[in-house]
Amino acid sequence: MTSAPHITLNNGVRMPQLGFGVFQVPDDETAAAVGHALDAGYRSIDTAAVYGNERGVGRAIADSGVPREELFVTTKLWNADQGYDQALDAFDASLAKLGLDHVDLYLIHWPTPARDLYVETYKALEKILSDGRARAIGVSNFQVPHLRRLMQQTGTVPAVNQVELHPGLQQAELRAFHAEHGIATEAWSPLAQGAVLEDGAITRIAQANGVTPAQVVLRWHLQTGNIVIPKSVTPARIRQNLDVFGFELTGTDLADIAALDRGLRTGPDPDTLN
Ligand SMILES: NC(=O)c1ccc[n+]([C@@H]2O[C@H](COP(=O)([O-])OP(=O)(O)OC[C@H]3O[C@@H](n4cnc5c(N)ncnc54)[C@H](OP(=O)(O)O)[C@@H]3O)[C@@H](O)[C@H]2O)c1
Repeated sequence: MTSAPHITLNNGVRMPQLGFGVFQVPDDETAAAVGHALDAGYRSIDTAAVYGNERGVGRAIADSGVPREELFVTTKLWNADQGYDQALDAFDASLAKLGLDHVDLYLIHWPTPARDLYVETYKALEKILSDGRARAIGVSNFQVPHLRRLMQQTGTVPAVNQVELHPGLQQAELRAFHAEHGIATEAWSPLAQGAVLEDGAITRIAQANGVTPAQVVLRWHLQTGNIVIPKSVTPARIRQNLDVFGFELTGTDLADIAALDRGLRTGPDPDTLN
């Protein structure tokens, strides 16, 4: 069974660099998909309140027999639940659905700047952290100005910023800011939901290494230092996406992939989603 290497977050907590995402998986199909992932060797699962499948994730964990301490479970606070008290209530609801007494990482899902509540919301996450109900806290879809304000007005540097990131949207400025401040970069839609898998450089490198385009893209993330959480409901792909430790991209490969950066967003713009 393959297992992923770990990244050490800024509070010392270790997080698998490759995990399993469950966005758009219906709750009644989630336990099966997560079960396949746990059997294949994934130990990190990424869900969110708004995905509506925290119960399915919890069921798979309970049925798997994998010791809790071997797992890394992330969930996220939805936009409508921002605010100090609302966030504490939403966290309780997520834990109850997951059937867990703590999560490993709790994230604010979007900054939703027009609501102007993310600083207050993050203070609730700091309370959850200090109560030991999340081992690490962080954010998702935060841009540099949102991160700067959060760091000026609260006491905990986010452990992670989970953002859209793939060869079509390489996020150089954000990654540099993260590196400067000790924030781990986690890539969502790491395969751009399939939109980069036919790019010429990707297919060339895949053929040269006898691997699939998805494996090339995931290998690129790992060599770039990103945490990745590819999603699949297809058992063969679930296994394939974890089987990315038997080859290495060359400097030329990395340069060819760098040239694919083109501002390709598959999801919303964090500055305007509210
Ligand atoms: N924080 C946020 O705002 C945010 C936003 C979006 C996503 N996320 C997280 O990031 C995770 C991943 O993102 P995502 O689900 O949007 O997209 P993704 O992982 O980039 O792509 C998933 C798509 O690629 C297909 N796929 C998976 N493995 C493949 C392979 N080896 N070869 C060919 N196709 C493959 C899947 O198909 P099948 O499933 O049919 O196999 C699915 O259609 C999510 O599940 C979620 O946990 C977070």
